Amino acid sequence: MLKGLIFDLDGVITDSAVYHLKAWQDLAKEIGIDLPESFGDKLRGLSRMDSLEIILEYGHKENDYTQEEKEALAAKKNDAYIKAVQKMTKADILPKMADLLHEAKAQGLKLALASASKNAPLILHQLELEDLFDARVDPATLKHGKPDPEIYIRAQELLGLEKNEVISFEDAPAGVKSIKAAGQFAVGIGDPVVLKGADYIVGSTSALDLAEIERVFKKAGN
Ligand code: G6P
Ligand code: MG
Repeated sequence: MLKGLIFDLDGVITDSAVYHLKAWQDLAKEIGIDLPESFGDKLRGLSRMDSLEIILEYGHKENDYTQEEKEALAAKKNDAYIKAVQKMTKADILPKMADLLHEAKAQGLKLALASASKNAPLILHQLELEDLFDARVDPATLKHGKPDPEIYIRAQELLGLEKNEVISFEDAPAGVKSIKAAGQFAVGIGDPVVLKGADYIVGSTSALDLAEIERVFKKAGN
């Protein structure tokens, strides 16, 4: 029986993925790497340091920096990202998402956040959504990033629920893999080819319908 919903943040609740990409593009440019728009999809769901690594590899500069220098680069990107995020308001919540969260809450479902972002508390505050969530995984306490299942297992445990009692929402292939490795029902938001492996896929949050998702969840034997 469905008792809880678990959400990724960037690309699911709000489109902060565009701000991540812009901040990385600006940083990459400073070190001589021209990052195309299409790179944004590769960054979805990856931790800050993993994102920097794939950007440096793309620019063939992975051996040019010490660990300390890499941390300084990541910190610079984060400063720029925070400046952009501080301008966000509840108008930046993706279509239908606020309705879905409130509908779930009214049904008595528990809500958890499973975002790899250390800026998630700031973003939830900007979106005025922080009071809706019963639990939030602190990514600083995790050993492994997505696609490892750790973050979704932790979110489910924080809610005190079993894997067949939750539905988890993701926009990233690494995130869908993480949900499935945790044994949970995955709703993918985005391109069905990219998100193959999810149990239910919508092209965008505008197409989300909680009653329909619950129907498919039950039909799958949950
Ligand atoms: C999310 C985003 C990634 C981002 C990661 C870490 O998973 O999809 O693009 O790199 O969070 O975010 P942070 O705000 O901690 O740098
Ligand atoms: Mg995401």
